[in-house]
Amino acid sequence: MKFLITGANGQLGREWIQFLELKGKPFDAFGSKKMDITDSEQVRNRIKECRPDVVINCAAYTNVDEAEDKEELAHSVNEGGVEHLVNACLDYNCKLVHFSTDYVFPGNFEDGSKFPDGYPEDGEKRPVNAYGRSKRAGEIVIEKSELDCLLIRVSWLCGPFGNNFVKTMLRLAETRDELSVVDDQKGSPSFTFDVVEKTFQLLNAGKSGVYHISSKERISWADFAEEIFKQANVEITLHRIPSSEFPTKAKRPAFSLLSNQKLEKEGLKVVAWKEGLSVLLEKLNRSL
Ligand SMILES: NC(=O)c1ccc[n+]([C@@H]2O[C@H](COP(=O)([O-])OP(=O)(O)OC[C@H]3O[C@@H](n4cnc5c(N)ncnc54)[C@H](OP(=O)(O)O)[C@@H]3O)[C@@H](O)[C@H]2O)c1
Repeated sequence: MKFLITGANGQLGREWIQFLELKGKPFDAFGSKKMDITDSEQVRNRIKECRPDVVINCAAYTNVDEAEDKEELAHSVNEGGVEHLVNACLDYNCKLVHFSTDYVFPGNFEDGSKFPDGYPEDGEKRPVNAYGRSKRAGEIVIEKSELDCLLIRVSWLCGPFGNNFVKTMLRLAETRDELSVVDDQKGSPSFTFDVVEKTFQLLNAGKSGVYHISSKERISWADFAEEIFKQANVEITLHRIPSSEFPTKAKRPAFSLLSNQKLEKEGLKVVAWKEGLSVLLEKLNRSL
């Protein structure tokens, strides 16, 4: 199986590159300069040259707050870009692996009791911010197409590459004695290494359709921060604050846990978030 990776410089793209190198699998990987997914000709040409069996789309517009002012740009990548990939994959007979987000769901606080295990794959989609709308629009492109596609939703993505919450917390703790973190947004982290491994297993099993890949248990960002500092042996005073004390341009869902039941039915063991975090911290230590 030959792969083509888009968004090769992002946190998930770089994880895929490392994974495929270790597995000794043939692949090509392109960042936005060599394969801008908003450019349909470039997308087509790269796929025509490389002739992959599977295109793994890690390219996305991911700036949640900036998307509020640049919704058109977000759509050009997260919807238009997906359309270009779908069309080229149809023409050159490739499977598409695409990643989406917990932010496609309504994220009401009350949904936390309606969906104790998290939103199921086929739950109602009603994004609360521009980024979520653009990602949902990309999902619809895939749903409407005839393409063989594996659509993976992840949440609170973090890993050893690029920027994420875990690295931000550790960086801030270097210069601060106390930190305030929101305690009323609930979800669960997805770890890039776990997402890649499980997606690869789904691909090998010939699976298509929508799957959620995140970790077990519902936590808040403050819970996550507390455990990061505990495992990393960082002494810091943590203040748990409501979102109202940390205003952001884009509205954030109060609840965005993803159910992993479908994944478990495939026999894939869902990682516990504290275990995933400990693996990530070990990887970060090794790279220091
Ligand atoms: N990060 C999260 O917390 C999170 C949560 C849920 C879902 N997701 C989803 O998970 C996937 C991977 O996210 P990530 O955290 O790895 O994102 P990331 O680190 O921000 O990487 C995204 C990559 O996409 C590239 N890109 C942007 N516009 C492009 C374009 N027009 N053509 C080609 N490449 C382009 C960027 O390249 P440049 O830097 O060169 O622009 C960047 O390297 C995305 O689909 C995202 O929506 C992420």
